[in-house]
Amino acid sequence: MGIMFPEEIIEEIKDRNEITQVISQYIQVKATGATYKALCPFHNEKTPSFIINRQRQSFKCFGCGEGGDVIQFVMKIENLDFMEAVRLLAQRANISLEKLNSSTEFKKEIEKKMLYYEILKKAGKFYYDKLTKQNKPALEYLLKRGLSTKTIKTFGLGYAYNSWNELLRFLTGTGYSIEDLLKCGLILPNKDKTDYYDRFRNRVIFPIFDVRGNVIGFGGRVLDQSLPKYMNSPETEVFSKSNTIYGLNFARRHTVNDQLLLVEGYMDVIALHQHGIKNAVAALGTSFTKGHAQILKKYCKELIICFDGDEAGQKAALRSINILQESDLNCRIIELPNKVDPDDYINQYGKFQFEEQILKAISPIEYKINLTKSKVDLNLPEGKIKFVKALANVLKQIKSPVEREVYIEKIEKEIGVSKEALQAEIYGYRPQEAMTKNQKYSSRNKRDNKYIEAVPLAEQKGHLIAEKQLIKTMLTNEKVLPQLLSKIKVEDFSTEAHQTIVAHIMELHKQGKPIELEKSSGHLAKEIKEINNIDINHINIDKALEAYIVNLKRYKRLYHLKLLREKQDTLLQDKKLNKEEVEKELLKIGLEIMKINTELKRR
Ligand code: GTP
Ligand code: MN
Repeated sequence: MGIMFPEEIIEEIKDRNEITQVISQYIQVKATGATYKALCPFHNEKTPSFIINRQRQSFKCFGCGEGGDVIQFVMKIENLDFMEAVRLLAQRANISLEKLNSSTEFKKEIEKKMLYYEILKKAGKFYYDKLTKQNKPALEYLLKRGLSTKTIKTFGLGYAYNSWNELLRFLTGTGYSIEDLLKCGLILPNKDKTDYYDRFRNRVIFPIFDVRGNVIGFGGRVLDQSLPKYMNSPETEVFSKSNTIYGLNFARRHTVNDQLLLVEGYMDVIALHQHGIKNAVAALGTSFTKGHAQILKKYCKELIICFDGDEAGQKAALRSINILQESDLNCRIIELPNKVDPDDYINQYGKFQFEEQILKAISPIEYKINLTKSKVDLNLPEGKIKFVKALANVLKQIKSPVEREVYIEKIEKEIGVSKEALQAEIYGYRPQEAMTKNQKYSSRNKRDNKYIEAVPLAEQKGHLIAEKQLIKTMLTNEKVLPQLLSKIKVEDFSTEAHQTIVAHIMELHKQGKPIELEKSSGHLAKEIKEINNIDINHINIDKALEAYIVNLKRYKRLYHLKLLREKQDTLLQDKKLNKEEVEKELLKIGLEIMKINTELKRR
């Protein structure tokens, strides 16, 4: 591998050579919707399995596995090496490399970067040789951690001697200047800047590559328990931590289902890679940034986050999730057992089980729910209340009402927190309040706090009492009847019996007849008796009315939400329906739920 062109020029050349257009010059490309297909030029086939991804400016043949960017396509089809392909594409885009290089400042900058790449590569080779040829303890350390010599070679791992200036002497001896070594972050000046010494001493060395495979920096790990455990190169002209993804130069060719796997450490990436999980990458040293997200977005459609199972790992995951959301890159999260990192996990359980974990990876919302759950004791009422409140904040972040309702449903089933309580917390009304209001007017409403218990709708008798009180008011207070009837509808009542009775009252009122119920009305007899027996004497009618009505409307809303949710469930479980149909239906349901919510907010 020769020294490569600096990233910027390569990017410029790629920007100016739209991949579909370039490929179309060689083979016939067919557009079907958003995807571009062709018969693969690299193997024999009759049906096209060669796909171009315009968004990512890459191609992939699902028949023979060939894939890459526009440069790799040209390399392959023209049988050129990298530099030759770059030149050809530069020409095609009317970029004369000579001309580009001829601006002296630009040229200088490129030459400088090329020099740094060269120095860093030499340093990497130096460390590698020391590890493999001379230093037994360091090599044994890596082998003991489960790495193979092949993996050590692939990742170019090395060892920096416990010497103050071994690398310094080697590189200056080869002809490089102190200044350039400083610029590469390889050496440090002493206090009065009279002398310099190696940055990495007595550490296992992990070269850090850019996406093209240039060495741009190093990480160094101690061989024992001493601190700091890791040391990294400083920021340099070729190494920017917030824009570097460790392992991406390998992983980008091995995305699985358009996914990359984000882990925390060098060793995680390397161990996973060795076990055949080759789409693993890490954001090193610094925490995950928007810059990282932007880069990853170019190479995958979904990121699987797999951080350490400790508290620091959870915090980091949460931060990353939020950044990814802002950056519009989908992600799911693997939750490893406590204190275990991906390196430990794959060594202990192997590839197959790790892949199981990937399949089981959960959505950001589920992750946040689990995190919230882990922080409270759900056996205590206070714990449940705390949980509901914290959870409401999480669920509020979900924009789609359909999705939100699905989670609410799930939580009810799993934890036994009632949907009503959750909805109340999310949508901002509290059944508790409604209940206490109600208690002022109802002599019988000495109920337990139902706030955090799952209560089936049919068992909410307090509500039925309220309805009966309202009917009794209609029967005994003709003065308020017109006002009352203008505010309610028959469907506001929850049982068929109540609806029949209210419809009857409305009919009597319309006909100007006296409002009374005959005691012997067949199947309604029991209901009528109960209504007659209900006590409303001590109630302030005017105030009570408003409370009843609000209560009824709320109840009606919950009832509808329940119906909608049931419909959602059957839809989601119906395997015969096609996806589009289900989505359309779900959208409709979502809109209805939103409508009901707005209606309630107005009250
Ligand atoms: P091992 O103990 O070798 O398995 O390391 P690890 O990969 O499990 O590391 P850990 O989870 O402790 O840290 C994850 C990553 O954070 C490492 O790979 C380093 O990039 C970085 N890191 C960890 N410790 C330090 C440190 O002390 N200083 C710096 N600068 N970075 C660190
Ligand atoms: Mn580890």
